[in-house]
Amino acid sequence: MRTFYIETFGCQMNVHDSEKVIGTLNQQGYSQVETPEEAELVLYNTCSIRDKAEQKVFHRLDQFKKAAGKNGKVYGVLGCVAQQEGERIFDRAPHVSLVVGSASYTKLPELLVQIESGERRVTGLSLDTEDTFETAYTRRDNPNKAYITIIEGCDKACAYCVVPMTRGPERSRTSESVLEEARKIAADGYTEIQLLGQNVNSYRDPSPAGMNFAQLMNAVGQVPCLRRVRFTTSHPRAFTKDIIDAMDENPVLCNHVHLPVQSGSDRVLHAMQRLYTRDEYLRRIEWMKNSRRNIAITTDIIVGFCGETDEDFEQTLRLIEEVEYDSMFSFKYSQRPNTPALGLTEHVPEEEKSRRLTILQEKQRGIQMRRNAEYIGERHEVMVEYFNQATGQWVGRTAQNKTLNFTLGEGMAEPRAGEYRDVVVTRSGPNSLAGEAVRV
Ligand code: 5AD
Ligand code: SF4
Repeated sequence: MRTFYIETFGCQMNVHDSEKVIGTLNQQGYSQVETPEEAELVLYNTCSIRDKAEQKVFHRLDQFKKAAGKNGKVYGVLGCVAQQEGERIFDRAPHVSLVVGSASYTKLPELLVQIESGERRVTGLSLDTEDTFETAYTRRDNPNKAYITIIEGCDKACAYCVVPMTRGPERSRTSESVLEEARKIAADGYTEIQLLGQNVNSYRDPSPAGMNFAQLMNAVGQVPCLRRVRFTTSHPRAFTKDIIDAMDENPVLCNHVHLPVQSGSDRVLHAMQRLYTRDEYLRRIEWMKNSRRNIAITTDIIVGFCGETDEDFEQTLRLIEEVEYDSMFSFKYSQRPNTPALGLTEHVPEEEKSRRLTILQEKQRGIQMRRNAEYIGERHEVMVEYFNQATGQWVGRTAQNKTLNFTLGEGMAEPRAGEYRDVVVTRSGPNSLAGEAVRV
């Protein structure tokens, strides 16, 4: 086997994991190809956060087989569905012969040797792998933004969530190792870094430097030549004020916080085992609103969790009005295997979940229209992403992580992706801003 194809589903953690897999395979002499048909090894990096994501996996595996056939090809399932389903994947998709969870990617070379030597079914599902943070072979896919994992796994027990099971217990990486990678990335020409973890706020430096998350973020923000440092994702319980203080002090730390609230009702938060109350959450929002900088705040919300009443849902609607989120991801509750919520019985009917989701999203759309209109007339620096042929505009991203589409003023040089431009906002919509680039 010398060629591989990889497709990735799910969050940024998964995207970054695929970069590590690609680097590891390249190092072993494999080259990446664009279609499963051309590949000898077909890999699928999967997500199991909601049932729909998981269903897609088996559907897509079937499609691969139909398109690419079985002759001489090896099919592998990586990531969260691999960890969750383990060997059961071989029953549901018999053409698969390799199943590997995210903590075992450094073992891929050995596992592939087993396959080459004729083993029909090979798994790598251990969660206590020591070398989780081995990054020597990462092959970064995005030319402008580099991901760095700072903490893996999750020790929380949110009642709805598969992640503690699919990604195992929390393991923090040493600050030296993070900073070394950040310096290397900056030397490679990257100006934007995103620090990754299921719960970055729980970061505890295992080395003598003993940094907490805010200190680590600050240290990364001091690395020469970096212009933007972001992080995701946060848990409100461990979110401390020193994170906002660090943002106040260092403009390289982007003024955006993604702080999933999940529900505005204390009753539901308790049932979800989220470990904070609505008031405690709102206190953290206060810190952000009192910051010297204009911090964009985004969130995740689940509607229709077991036992959620109309009144609970009303409280979520009131909360989003109060916070005025810049953007939101919202989901219908989806029951997941091996989660604490499986024992709960008061299910909300699917139609009711859909009804609540629509109401929530409509309300949020109004909030975003209002919020984004406030930017008209302001000047913002964007990192240029690409030129959109269809609209004739360049697509840029502000430090707050808002999309700002722009045209160039008379006689201005065309930018390259990854460059920075100043743009004056002239129009706004619910999901993006538009404007014209100006000379600095
Ligand atoms: N059902 C619906 N949404 C979920 N999320 C996590 N687990 C579930 C589930 N079982 C959502 C949460 C989380 C985001 C990544 O996905 O809102 O913050
Ligand atoms: Fe999906 Fe969660 Fe796994 Fe990311 S960590 S791929 S969101 S299940």
